[in-house]
Amino acid sequence: MVAHQLAVKGAGDDGGVTVVDRLDHPIVLAPLSGGPSTPELAAAVATAGGFGFLAAGYLTVDAVRERMNLLRELSDRPFGINLFVPGGPADPAVYAPYVELLHAEARAAGLPVGEPRYDDDGWEAKLDLVTAEPPAIVSFTFGCPDSSVIQRVRQAGAEAWVTVTSPEEARHAARAGADGLVLQGGEAGGHRGSFDNRPELPTLGVLALLQLTADLGVPRMAAGGIATGAGVAAVLAAGATAAALGTAFLRCPEAGTSAPHRDALSSGRPTRLTQSFSGRLARGIVNEFMDRHDGHAVTAYPEIHYVTAPTRAWAREAGDPAWINLWAGQAYPLSRAEPAREVAERMIAELATARG
Ligand SMILES: Cc1cc2nc3c(=O)[nH]c(=O)nc-3n(C[C@H](O)[C@H](O)[C@H](O)COP(=O)(O)O)c2cc1C
Repeated sequence: MVAHQLAVKGAGDDGGVTVVDRLDHPIVLAPLSGGPSTPELAAAVATAGGFGFLAAGYLTVDAVRERMNLLRELSDRPFGINLFVPGGPADPAVYAPYVELLHAEARAAGLPVGEPRYDDDGWEAKLDLVTAEPPAIVSFTFGCPDSSVIQRVRQAGAEAWVTVTSPEEARHAARAGADGLVLQGGEAGGHRGSFDNRPELPTLGVLALLQLTADLGVPRMAAGGIATGAGVAAVLAAGATAAALGTAFLRCPEAGTSAPHRDALSSGRPTRLTQSFSGRLARGIVNEFMDRHDGHAVTAYPEIHYVTAPTRAWAREAGDPAWINLWAGQAYPLSRAEPAREVAERMIAELATARG
C-alpha cells in the first residue's frame, strides 16, 4: 500500500486521534528546508517508528513531487509535507539601504549577490500537489491558511497542521480548523513560524507555550531545543502529543546539510535569533555575517533571502561558514553525526528510561 493510501481523515473525524497518536513512538522529524530535508532522512525516522516531514520550501513544485515519489518508494509509512504560507511583499523603502550595503559588501569581497524580489514560494501549485497526492499531514508555517484551505486539505484526506509561536496564534489556528498545532518555542533552530513577520513579537519557550495552550483541546506537537529522550519525555509530560525535532537530525548522513554547516554544529559557539540572512527571524549559530549585520538588518522576507542566497550558495560550496546561515536550535551541541535511524532509536530508548 502506498503512503497516501494510509492517509487518514482529519482529527475531528476520528475522535481527536491523529496520525501522530498512532505512531509507534511520539517522535517527529521536523521539516528542514534549504537542503537538510531529504526523502532518505524522512524514511529513516519513519522506519524507526517515528514520523518524517519533507520541507517543500524554496523548491519547485516538480522537485517536491519527485521527493514525495522517492519517499513513497523508500517507505510505506505515512509522512508529512510542510508549506510556507505567503505573507505579501515588503516596502522597498524599508529594505533598500540594507540591500545597498549587502551589495557593496559582496562586491568588495568579489562574491555573488542577488536582487530583492517577492514570490509566494509556489503556493497554489504546491497546494494543488498536496491535495492531489495527499500525504498524511500537510503542515503550514509563516501563517495560518484560511479555513477554506484547511478544509480543502482535510477533504483531500490529509490532516492540516499549523505552526504557532504564541497562545494567540494557537487559538487562531484552532478556530480556523487545524487538526493539530506545532508549538514552536524560541529555542528552535531555523525560521520562526510566526504569522506576522515582526521581530518585536515575544519569544516564548516551548514549555511556556504548552502550558498556555493546554485548554485548547487540539493535539499539539512541541518543537524547539529537544535533542534527547528526556527532552521528549518533558514535553509529553507537559501535554504534547509528540515532539518535533530538527537540529538533532542535521548531522545525520541522510540529511542534505552542507559540510560547513555540519562543522559548525560541533563548534560549541552560541546561537542567536537573526533576521540578517533572510529578513525574517531565525535561530542560527553566530558567525561573522550575523555580527556585522544584526544591528541594522531589516524585516523583509523573502526579499532579503533572495539578496543573500547567491552569496550563501557560494559559501556553502567554498566551505566558508562566515557567510552561511548556520541554522541550529539551542540544544545543537547534543546533535550527533550518526545515521538517523540510530539517532531516533537512541532517543526512543532514552524516552522509555525517562518514563520509567
Ligand atoms: C535548517 C532548518 C530548516 C528549517 N526549515 C523549516 C521549514 O521549512 N519549515 C518549518 O516549518 N520549519 C522549519 N524549521 C524549523 C523546524 O521545523 C523546527 O521547528 C525546529 O527545528 C525545532 O527546533 P530544534 O531545531 O531545536 O529541534 C527549520 C529548522 C532548521 C534547523
